[in-house]
Amino acid sequence: MFVGIAHAAFKVTDMKASLHFYCDIAGMKHAFNLKDKDGKPWIEYLSFGGGQFVELFYGAEYTAEPAYDGKRIGYHHYCFETKDMTGLAKRLFAEGLIQKETIDFGVDGNRSCWAHDPDGNAVEFIQYYPESPLVKDPPCSGRVSPGAGIAHIALRSKDWSKALAFYRDLLGFQLQWTLERDGKPVIYYLLVRPGQIIELYDGSTETLPPDQKRAGFSHVCIEVDDINAAAAYIEGKGVKLDSPPKRGVDMNYQAWVTDPDGNRIELMQIDPESPHAKADAKA
Ligand SMILES: [Fe+2]
Ligand SMILES: [Fe+2]
Repeated sequence: MFVGIAHAAFKVTDMKASLHFYCDIAGMKHAFNLKDKDGKPWIEYLSFGGGQFVELFYGAEYTAEPAYDGKRIGYHHYCFETKDMTGLAKRLFAEGLIQKETIDFGVDGNRSCWAHDPDGNAVEFIQYYPESPLVKDPPCSGRVSPGAGIAHIALRSKDWSKALAFYRDLLGFQLQWTLERDGKPVIYYLLVRPGQIIELYDGSTETLPPDQKRAGFSHVCIEVDDINAAAAYIEGKGVKLDSPPKRGVDMNYQAWVTDPDGNRIELMQIDPESPHAKADAKA
């Protein structure tokens, strides 16, 4: 029913700077854009192919740094898989976004680095290698997606049991692995689909009040194969939807729900006539 992470959405202060970061440096392709009902630029869509996008919304007026504040409930960072860490690292280094150009293998047998996007959001990049235990050994196998894409999204939660009840028990994402320190869980890894993980980090206490003018994380979108069935299933489990299924201006069918930590989750059934489906067909 829940197919995979379709997109992650961020509000940005300077679209030109963000497009430079995500397209010219990180290697995403600009796919299409949407205008709001007044005809003003609204969302820029960047594509990885394979049905995965990043949505960049216009209209943030300021950032709230650091976006990955360790104490804050909610978005922590997200990670893009790349097939060419060497080329990516060269570009990041040339822009002064990382400290050294050579990326060594980590203890997990992969190569990864971190940078910040122009609004201060922490972004991780990873190239997986076949010999890595994350790729090779159960229970972690299957982390390599067929191409580049969203590898994981990390969220900090206030209460493990509630977050697991939502992502594991309700949405059905299998608990693949638990990272422990001193016998206590530190990160839960939930498999959304092969190659895509939601990481739930340990408990946090600080919340940011909602603010439409602040840049940063907006929502995660989970693709579903049947929006009405997904909505009925969720409501049947006693979880209230924020908005029932409807067709959006992008032609796809969407419904919204909030996770126990207040993160907005969009559910989306892709219409073959939507710009998303067409951008994918072209990729
Ligand atoms: Fe990560
Ligand atoms: Fe969205």
